[in-house]
Amino acid sequence: MTDVQRAAEPVAAEGLMEKVVGLAKRRGFIFQSAEIYGGFRSTYDYGPLGVNMLRNVKDAWWRAMVQLRDDVVGIDAAILGPPAVWAASGHLANFTDPLVECRTCHSRWREDKLEGACPNCGGTDFTEARSFNLMFKTHAGPVEDQAAEAYLRPETAQGMFVNFLNVLQTTRKKPPFGIAQVGKSFRNEITPQNFVFRTREFEQMEMEYFVPPDEGPRWHEYWLAERYRWYVDLGIPEDKLRLRHHDPDELSHYSAGTADVEFLFPWGWDELEGIANRTDYDLKAHAAASGERLDYFDPTTGERYTPHVIEPAAGATRTMMAFLLAAYDEDEIGGERRAVLRLHPRLAPYQVAVLPLSKKEALEPLAREVLHLLQPHFMCDYDVTQSIGRRYRRQDEVGTPWCVTVDFDSLEDRAVTVRDRDTTEQVRVPLDGLLDELRRRAGDA
Ligand code: GAP
Repeated sequence: MTDVQRAAEPVAAEGLMEKVVGLAKRRGFIFQSAEIYGGFRSTYDYGPLGVNMLRNVKDAWWRAMVQLRDDVVGIDAAILGPPAVWAASGHLANFTDPLVECRTCHSRWREDKLEGACPNCGGTDFTEARSFNLMFKTHAGPVEDQAAEAYLRPETAQGMFVNFLNVLQTTRKKPPFGIAQVGKSFRNEITPQNFVFRTREFEQMEMEYFVPPDEGPRWHEYWLAERYRWYVDLGIPEDKLRLRHHDPDELSHYSAGTADVEFLFPWGWDELEGIANRTDYDLKAHAAASGERLDYFDPTTGERYTPHVIEPAAGATRTMMAFLLAAYDEDEIGGERRAVLRLHPRLAPYQVAVLPLSKKEALEPLAREVLHLLQPHFMCDYDVTQSIGRRYRRQDEVGTPWCVTVDFDSLEDRAVTVRDRDTTEQVRVPLDGLLDELRRRAGDA
């Protein structure tokens, strides 16, 4: 028997953002970067719980996109790149936002996002728009001349294109096949906003899927369905998720068709992932610029062609924020309101918390034995502070699906209590069946 009362209404969108941002800071998910120096605008650090969750998001993506497939391999390419790469990819010429300056307060804004007056001072007198390139430029080596110019990558995708031949030759893959990468990207966003939704430094999870040219549209449809399902499987409710096809005037410079997976953020529908049909744009551009032959020779047909590319491009940090927003819930236990993150067990920072019922020394050896039994298999927390009820609430608030409590009876019967986060149901489990029981629950989830 449990006494959980679901809140009559889902947590209102209004105020949700503040609650999740507050929880993220209070419980060590996400901190403002360089906070003791007043913070550095639009950069964030991931704390002890956040780093676990972000890794889990990236691992869940890698598992679905690489581990469970035989047609996708991974790489980890450099963040720094020479201008030649970005000239060929079109980013030097096209990766720009239209920037206007408010003549009253001199703040700068993206013209396409401005809705009338200056959000800073209310002024309505703006300069003409000029193109502002979003790439961060730096210099490699001790001399700051043109020859030493380098760029921080604004997307991970180009690492896959410039390594196309290396991967083809070393893996003997043939189209359709994909190259996946997870890593940091950098964009000098004019208006970073909404917590980690749009930042200047962020992480992407991208895959370039190389297909015979006439199969592009079919594989585009395939990846739209696959990627949508990934978010649903990890717990985003379908009424908060949609696919939206871009209008022709929205398309990026390389795209013959893009659809976004969108999430219903507190401010409205916004992008989680773009799934583009990049055609042969990138391979042809790099082939022309580098002089290398970036194509595929099919020995069975004797045909040589430049593959077309379908690209599911997701943001790890942005997606983590969506998972937090979707998971946030409140309910009542025994008349007391609790915040609970209903995170999928695969995403929760800790899967299990081991809680000795009291601080009494007699319980510690067995509690540590339980911890050491579970640690090789699950990310575990160990907490002896406060009352057991308080500790359950603290674990609920950070999304831990299962608490394992060691009490004085455990010393006699070598059994522990397993408590479920969502139902708050508690069952007694013998120690020698505990690992199997938790594995079964995690596997069922
Ligand atoms: N290679 C294609 C590409 O980079 P994109 O739509 O510009 O496409 C893909 O980026 C994803 O990366 C976005 O859907 C978003 O999740 C994430 N992303 C892009 N810019 C971001 C930013 N400034 N902050 C956080 N995430 C960002």
